[in-house]
Amino acid sequence: MSVSSLDVKVRKVEKSRISEIDPANIQFGKNYSDHMLIAYYENGAWKQPEIVPFTNLSLSPATTFFHYGQAIFEGVKAYKDPNGNPIIFRPRDNWKRMNRSAKRMAMPNVPEDIFVEGMRQLIDLDRDWVPSSEETSLYIRPFMVAIDEFIGVRPAEKFMFMIITSPAGPYYNKPVSIYVQDQYVRAFPGGIGFTKAAGNYGMSMYPTQMIKEMGYDQILWTDGFTHKNVQEIGTMNVFFRIGDTIVTPDITEDTILEGVTRDSVLTLLRENGFKVEERVISIDELADAHKAGQLKEAFGTGTAASIAPIYALTYHDNKMELPPLETWETANWLKKELADIRYGRKADTHAWIVPVK
Ligand code: COI
Repeated sequence: MSVSSLDVKVRKVEKSRISEIDPANIQFGKNYSDHMLIAYYENGAWKQPEIVPFTNLSLSPATTFFHYGQAIFEGVKAYKDPNGNPIIFRPRDNWKRMNRSAKRMAMPNVPEDIFVEGMRQLIDLDRDWVPSSEETSLYIRPFMVAIDEFIGVRPAEKFMFMIITSPAGPYYNKPVSIYVQDQYVRAFPGGIGFTKAAGNYGMSMYPTQMIKEMGYDQILWTDGFTHKNVQEIGTMNVFFRIGDTIVTPDITEDTILEGVTRDSVLTLLRENGFKVEERVISIDELADAHKAGQLKEAFGTGTAASIAPIYALTYHDNKMELPPLETWETANWLKKELADIRYGRKADTHAWIVPVK
């Protein structure tokens, strides 16, 4: 199937639910747009995708993913450009990453046209759901689950790929406080840390609940061997500015998600002459830099949160507070630069934008 030939069967809602949305108060993940895309994989092939009214699903209690978590997802965003037209940010990169996750989880490749062209048609139909004010977007959630009706443990043969969308405001309303986790581990080399497998998020719930009870917002995950080298924060990639250098953990060990926002940030920083290093970063190095007054900025990056500033990092009893946000040259510049590209206010020199029409 080529991108242009994708034939999607469309069944539209009788009445839109858009009036349920208060554009002045859009919360992340609370409301879902009128339609969803659904495609089934059976006998080694994908069937024709359909766009149908957003509705509940009916599945056997024996469905594979309920039991064994053979489930992966992606996060993409659509924005309104200055002319009011929806544009999608880097969906092909999410498509490629979804297929890297699929391979590791013994799931089939999703064809590019079902993912990208299907998404484009879905957003076109629900274009009124793409909010237009600053810091808002339409969050797009493609996902795939194994749907064999079988509770034996084996890679499934039937799968369902879906795309749902949800108008979104900011994921975090203020800078976050981080607790450095050295007891629970997110990812090991050879594991699934580089994928967007549901289990990576499920396993984080208990440690996150514990640190929230202690008054922190998110976890800084460290490696499972030394418990010193930082990996990700919460559900985001992490960046630090030490002196004049921006550092982020490298992704060579399969433990870190290859974030699309991470890549956008690295590209923009390098193009604009910032000194950038992808390498091992230990919590001791961060503590030393903080002591020497050189830990200037710290932020998470992700599709949902975009650029999320960190105001304090706590490692055991060492609370490392960052300088006031107004003084941060890198994160503040990046946030504006990325927003200008995503909202179509600045020329798209990287071919990151996919217009909906
Ligand atoms: C994203 O940033 O898109 C994520 O996947 C994070 C989260 C909402 C799970």
